[in-house]
Amino acid sequence: SLESAIRRGGASASSCRRFSSDSGPERKVAILGAAGGIGQPLALLMKLNPLVSTLALYDIAGTPGVAADVSHINTRAEVAGYAGEEQLGKALEGSDVVVIPAGVPRKPGMTRDDLFNINAGIVKSLCTAISKYCPNAVVNMISNPVNSTVPIASEVFKKAGTYDERKLFGVTTLDVVRAKTFYAGKAKVPVAGVNVPVVGGHAGITILPLFSQATPASNDLSDEDIKALTKRTQEGGTEVVEAKAGKGSATLSMAYAGAIFADACLKGLNGVPDVVECSFVQSSITELPFFASKVRLGKNGVEEVLGLGSLSDYEEEGLEKLKPELKASIEKGIKFAREN
Ligand code: NAD
Ligand code: LMR
Repeated sequence: SLESAIRRGGASASSCRRFSSDSGPERKVAILGAAGGIGQPLALLMKLNPLVSTLALYDIAGTPGVAADVSHINTRAEVAGYAGEEQLGKALEGSDVVVIPAGVPRKPGMTRDDLFNINAGIVKSLCTAISKYCPNAVVNMISNPVNSTVPIASEVFKKAGTYDERKLFGVTTLDVVRAKTFYAGKAKVPVAGVNVPVVGGHAGITILPLFSQATPASNDLSDEDIKALTKRTQEGGTEVVEAKAGKGSATLSMAYAGAIFADACLKGLNGVPDVVECSFVQSSITELPFFASKVRLGKNGVEEVLGLGSLSDYEEEGLEKLKPELKASIEKGIKFAREN
């Protein structure tokens, strides 16, 4: 139960203060946009993660309250809130992992690319600060459109001379979370044991779930079922945007997904072997410079970008169809960063 999980966290927190090696090395995680719809539940989940020793919560406003609230939870992480640009440096200093859910979310009728004009500038300024205050941190980019914000971040870091392609990640974990849930429901298998890789990017048809590689395999799904599952995964974000009817996009499932991915990064940094997650990273597995696929995480971030494996004809077709859109979104991000 959640209660017992929280109690376990509490127990390990008190023992880790006495035996600090129990929870591994000191690790600082910063969340930028921590007072937002994703930021707040993500702050909660990171406070429950025993791998975190320091949790820095940054936003333009509201973070002192979020930090005070979360800080009363009896787990290992020491929490501090930072509000306003003049406190951004302090929030970032010494960070091992920086998670970025800062920016505006969609409303019904919008595409993720419609967020570009506002979010590109936000991401650019936050990444400029990262290159100054914690140039070695692993960056988890959540702000949309991910297909463009990750290339923007790479250009900002290149300009600053701090780019390490192993440490920049577009968070696509929510696509995997959705694919697992929808597949388990359709295939009628227990969701806890399900795995589905999702490759490509993070918008519409650029999201390509590989149900042919889903485990456990199911013989009961027709081609039509697979098409419907693919479409639902690609439109999962829109499903939530429409249900929220103007009150934003996925926040709770995204916080869960963001916490899973940040935890995987921390495990990699700590030397845990065989940590594999899908993520949108610099890549040479296709002709596109950035691409989401399975990635093995290690002490320096990306240890290996894994290949696509064998695809069904339907997936091959989806792969070719997504490339022009993904390419254009990547180029749009690069152009913005070079010209601004
Ligand atoms: P929100 O509006 O609830 O919260 C965003 C927060 O960012 C706000 O608190 C705001 O003050 C803050 N912010 C704005 N400018 C900032 C700046 N310069 N520095 C620091 N903080 C700043 O939005 P949300 O629902 O939390 O969504 C945030 C972003 O995440 C959106 O762009 C959304 O599209 C994206 N998102 C991505 C995924 C994904 O799978 N990658 C999933 C869901 C949402
Ligand atoms: C999602 O997939 O839920 C996010 O990218 C938010 C959105 O705009 O759909």
